[in-house]
Amino acid sequence: MPANERHAGRIVMITGAAKGIGAATAHAFALEGAILVLADIDMVALNATMAGLPGAGHLAIRLDVTTPDDWQAAVAQVDDRFGKLDVLVNNAGWGNLRSIFDTKPEDWRRLIAINLDSVFFGTMAAMPLLERSGDAAVVNVSSIRSRVVGFGSGPYSAAKAGVEMFSRVAAVECAQTGRKVRVNSIHPGFVDTPLSKAQGEAARAARAASVPQGRMAEPEEIAAGILFLASREASYVNGSALVVDGAFTAV
Ligand SMILES: NC(=O)c1ccc[n+]([C@@H]2O[C@H](COP(=O)([O-])OP(=O)(O)OC[C@H]3O[C@@H](n4cnc5c(N)ncnc54)[C@H](O)[C@@H]3O)[C@@H](O)[C@H]2O)c1
Repeated sequence: MPANERHAGRIVMITGAAKGIGAATAHAFALEGAILVLADIDMVALNATMAGLPGAGHLAIRLDVTTPDDWQAAVAQVDDRFGKLDVLVNNAGWGNLRSIFDTKPEDWRRLIAINLDSVFFGTMAAMPLLERSGDAAVVNVSSIRSRVVGFGSGPYSAAKAGVEMFSRVAAVECAQTGRKVRVNSIHPGFVDTPLSKAQGEAARAARAASVPQGRMAEPEEIAAGILFLASREASYVNGSALVVDGAFTAV
């Protein structure tokens, strides 16, 4: 029996669900009784994540979030199986560290496509299914880089700031057009993922020391924020941005 059943029976779709924050979020929703639609381009890792999920009835879909046709096909599969969607977590994202002076137009377009186009394409493709929920939530994974610059965060920061503002626009337009779909963004600070572990202990220690709380976040701590924003406890939280960063941007 899940300790908390806030999401029991709800249909929850997560992009970039194969690894990192997406996989931790899928696990947390499943522990609360949700039925998951996991989407990613890495099917080997996605199937491994799927195999480790508690509960039953979950669905894994290959989806490139930068491609509108993939979104239409994925939403059609969700419609066939479930007929509605209660929660969409637009989590898939990617960044590199490169000065704008070394960023080529194709690098810019790629980062904007993965981090920002994806959120617009996904939210709009899923909207008809979200509307059928009657009590739906979209959570868009942005970053502290939407607020503060780090060296080499150029197109990534621009995209993540776009995610925050798109979330606010979508929240207002859904509410003003009578759609029962809340939209919020979440802004993680430094998260201790396999990628950060691979960068070595010295790099990890330096990052942790730059955070007032003195450590990086665990992916589960970001998942907890996503589950709150998607829950009925957050029924009046709409068009907001939840920063989960150990006070990094408060300084
Ligand atoms: N890790 C951090 O420190 C951190 C901090 C702030 C924000 N974020 C954001 O959190 C989200 C998740 O990051 P993470 O650290 O878990 O990353 P991760 O690299 O561990 O996982 C990202 C997942 O997205 C998938 N993906 C990449 N491109 C895709 C595409 N085109 N279509 C579908 N799936 C695709 C990858 O296969 C992977 O499974 C991202 O939006 C990232 O920008 C991460």
